[in-house]
Amino acid sequence: MSFAVAIDGPAASGKGTISRAVADRFDLAHLDTGLLYRAVGARMLLGIEPVEAAETLTAGMLEDGDLRTPEVAQAASKVAAIPEVRAALVDFQRSFARRVGGAVLDGRDIGTVICPEAEVKLFVTASAEVRAKRRFAELTAKGLELTPGQVLADIRERDARDAGRADAPMVAAADAVLIDTSDLSIEEAVEAACRVVAARITG
Ligand code: CDP
Repeated sequence: MSFAVAIDGPAASGKGTISRAVADRFDLAHLDTGLLYRAVGARMLLGIEPVEAAETLTAGMLEDGDLRTPEVAQAASKVAAIPEVRAALVDFQRSFARRVGGAVLDGRDIGTVICPEAEVKLFVTASAEVRAKRRFAELTAKGLELTPGQVLADIRERDARDAGRADAPMVAAADAVLIDTSDLSIEEAVEAACRVVAARITG
């Protein structure tokens, strides 16, 4: 039997951490769909045409080099606005969502486009300042040199592009449960998400 949990939200809102924890807790498979767009963005930075990069993407490329850099994030957001790029990635995401045993997918359009029939939909947000602070800590811990201001500007630019694009814009599904993690610890955010999933399972 399949059971899909769709988790969407803006950059660095905590959806990745929440998705991994929900998948762990309920023994579901997890797909970080942002990684698909990051891999396509990284290939574009290497000179490959984005639509071709999306159409020839393989699983191994998701583990190629560091995809979690600000440069790759910006490239990801640019290729993600190209309808043919999105179209090339739809089938893989849809079959993952319906896999036997259940799945958690996180991204921007999971509850609206990839899996509108998902059993659980969450939209995870936080203020841009809180999100920039968290992302700044992550990136500096990896040894990247940047300023908090750069990280905030990067997040704002990406959010605007992701929410403003014509194809599959980032928006909460009408039936998504909103979780604002601005004033929540990681543990509290994870518990809030798990409560929603548990309630749906027990009916
Ligand atoms: O980790 P973070 O929230 O910063 O970004 P991500 O989830 O890795 O996504 C990187 C970029 O991919 C986003 O800024 C979006 O432009 C794009 N994306 C998308 O368009 N649709 C998805 N389902 C997931 C990501």
